[in-house]
Amino acid sequence: MYPDRVVSGMRPTGTMHLGHYHGALKNWIKMQTERPCLFFVADWHALTTHYDDPTIIERSTWDMVIDWLAAGVDPSQATIFIQSRVPEHAELHLLLSMCTPLGWLERVPTYKDQIENITNKDLATYGFLGYPLLQAADVLIYRASEVPVGEDQVPHIEMMREIARRFNHMYGKEPGFEEKAMEAVKKLGSKRAKLYMELRTQYQQEGKEDALLQGKAMLNDAQSLSMGDRERLFGYLEGSRKLILVEPHAKLTEDSRLPGLDGRKMSKSYGNAISLREDRDSVTKKVRTMPTDPARVRRTDPGDPRKCPVWQLHTVYSDEATKDWVVKGCTSAGIGCIECKQPVIDAILAEQEPMRERAQQYLDDPSLVRAIVADGCDTARKLAQETMRDVREAMGLSYS
Ligand code: TRP
Ligand code: SF4
Repeated sequence: MYPDRVVSGMRPTGTMHLGHYHGALKNWIKMQTERPCLFFVADWHALTTHYDDPTIIERSTWDMVIDWLAAGVDPSQATIFIQSRVPEHAELHLLLSMCTPLGWLERVPTYKDQIENITNKDLATYGFLGYPLLQAADVLIYRASEVPVGEDQVPHIEMMREIARRFNHMYGKEPGFEEKAMEAVKKLGSKRAKLYMELRTQYQQEGKEDALLQGKAMLNDAQSLSMGDRERLFGYLEGSRKLILVEPHAKLTEDSRLPGLDGRKMSKSYGNAISLREDRDSVTKKVRTMPTDPARVRRTDPGDPRKCPVWQLHTVYSDEATKDWVVKGCTSAGIGCIECKQPVIDAILAEQEPMRERAQQYLDDPSLVRAIVADGCDTARKLAQETMRDVREAMGLSYS
């Protein structure tokens, strides 16, 4: 089976803030230690909405990579690259477009939603409609098993699965597949071959998911199989097709949405964000001027933390003792708001300190960042080319 790869991308459309860190990057940093990860700058995706003013994309790309590195994405563990430097993504997007029904794209909820709600831009473009398919190509080209995304992107992953399934069904008809699969079964040895055929029947006739999982596990353990035979047996287990593309799963980021300075979700467009490497004075000033419970007009007026955005930051950043101190002090007017904000300021500054330090070397020597990305692009391209070889062959484009 293909290795358990993880793929995720981010659009370079502006400065990264702490909301991105808590919502996505922390998760990436954890995943990179667990399995092979590919993280990319989705510059083509950014163009689907910013095609009329791409300058921000170029600027944001390098800043974004520095932010990732600063946050702790580790180029010795994860592959970091720029989408447009791996043009195979575009080739797969084109080939998938041939067999993707228009209705699948028109039905994607984010499409309808954005077409209706974003009125300051003309999004009635071919690129915008097709972007979930481009996203499918981004993931399928690495045969990734997991995609860490937020809730809003889950329908995109569902669509990718359908696309992979349809592709395998349509193009996975290797000549003589059944015969080759049966040859491969024999290579399992008689005991395992028997078990394999039983599990296949259980899955295909009775729909037993367990049997499928058990069969896959057995194939993963079967050392003696060649790559090609293994793939055939995976395909034969599930149906009678070769698996060319792998159906990925969404890995939902646990709800770690960071509230912004006004209590709404942190977002650049709300003007309530703290950027990842914002300077210390500015962080201090922003938190000091945050709104609080409006009932606390005077220092002696008691307040209610539930009506205060500062409290929401305490729930992310403070330990139990501090939170107790806030609740007691606020409701009894025992502490002032400035006092209450200080532990939040300290915690944010402490979180950012290692990021600022890590970023410094890259700011001092931008060639380091260029080299990391160049390496990442090479690695990604090799993997992408492997898949494209199979895809071209399956679609009758290998001309050998
Ligand atoms: N569409 C994603 C977003 O808007 C970015 C993205 C592009 C992506 N390609 C991807 C995310 C592949 C995960 C996997 O945030
Ligand atoms: Fe908000 Fe703290 Fe002031 Fe209470 S004391 S209103 S929680 S800032």
